[in-house]
Amino acid sequence: MAPAVYTAAMNMPLVDRRGRRVRDLRISITDRCNFRCVYCMPKTVFGRDYPFLPRNELLSFEEIARVARLFAAQGVQKIRLTGGEPLLRRDTEQLIELLAAIPGIELTLTTNGSLLSQRAQSLKAAGLRRVTVSLDALDDAIFGRMNDVGFPVARVLNGIDAAAAAGLAPVKVNMVVKRGVNDDQIIPMAEHFRGRGQILRFIEYMDVGSSNGWRMDEVVPSAEIVARIAAVFPLDAVDPAYAGEVAERWRYRDGGGEIGVVSSVTHAFCGGCTRVRLSTEGKLYTCLFAQQGHDLRQLMRDGKTDDEIAAAIVAIWQARDDRYSEIRSAQTAHGKKIEMSYIGG
Ligand code: GTP
Ligand code: 5AD
Ligand code: SF4
Ligand code: SF4
Repeated sequence: MAPAVYTAAMNMPLVDRRGRRVRDLRISITDRCNFRCVYCMPKTVFGRDYPFLPRNELLSFEEIARVARLFAAQGVQKIRLTGGEPLLRRDTEQLIELLAAIPGIELTLTTNGSLLSQRAQSLKAAGLRRVTVSLDALDDAIFGRMNDVGFPVARVLNGIDAAAAAGLAPVKVNMVVKRGVNDDQIIPMAEHFRGRGQILRFIEYMDVGSSNGWRMDEVVPSAEIVARIAAVFPLDAVDPAYAGEVAERWRYRDGGGEIGVVSSVTHAFCGGCTRVRLSTEGKLYTCLFAQQGHDLRQLMRDGKTDDEIAAAIVAIWQARDDRYSEIRSAQTAHGKKIEMSYIGG
């Protein structure tokens, strides 16, 4: 009898309509955040006390781990926990323990760093491999305006150092660049993170979600960022660490380490996109810019078997045709889209 589902383990690689495999699962474990970054959850839309999802709407840790195991069987090798701010979910370490037990998975987490100095050790002990920390400026006034809650730079830097000391290394630092807001921080940030073994990545401001009022003239193209840095600290291009890597890598010629640029606006990378996203309440999105998700929570709570859910996952991936960043236009940029804090950065 033919098996109910074909898995990667059976030498039947799962590919979408563009021949792309599924390799990275990004899981949003809360839609809440203690920051109100202007490019992500602007206060004008989300307010201070936005009515976020009620608790029973969220996937439980067991449900998340079940989806993760089913994806691992389909070829997923990397799992990233995101949000919102993932460290705001109670007992995130318990979830990390469940996920770390899945063989062959590299487990990472993206955080704003606000709670990292207290949590780095327990995250590492639970089985987390690495962290990526968001930090958009070294200047307190600029950073405070960008996170819009006046959160101080020093506490994020302490979190980064605590993560490195706990062995959650190499720590990657993500800086979203918005022209006229924090682009004068490009050089100070590069200077600070050089020579520390921490990898700074500059992210082009994207038209993700519908709330940030995105405008093309606020995007600083990666080529300009690289040119500005290279004028001060000469750089050489580095080959990608793996096929489909999101960040393009550059190395300081003087041995000061490397930086990355993520050019999803000026140089889309959909051709190698191996990412799938699970929202806080269990919807599966095959693109960061998708308008609709597939409800896995319903399947689980309806009592479907692993084989039935795996078959649903396979069908969703096989039907996938997304390449939003490649076909982005003035029209699509202002359409209705899922917020990044809900779907997971
Ligand atoms: P590492 O293996 O740690 O380097 O992970 P990564 O390269 O996936 O990096 P990370 O998850 O930190 O992503 C960096 C940024 O790139 C995100 O915060 C997003 O802004 C952007 N990004 C990540 N994945 C996608 C994607 O699939 N599409 C688009 N358009 N942007 C993405
Ligand atoms: N453009 C680019 N990156 C964004 N992020 C959130 N919103 C945006 C946006 N509009 C990413 C940042 C941040 C992570 C949590 O999400 O990289 O570090
Ligand atoms: Fe929170 Fe991260 Fe969004 Fe900023 S970018 S509001 S820290 S989820
Ligand atoms: Fe993948 Fe969609 Fe991002 Fe393109 S825009 S890289 S398809 S998530």
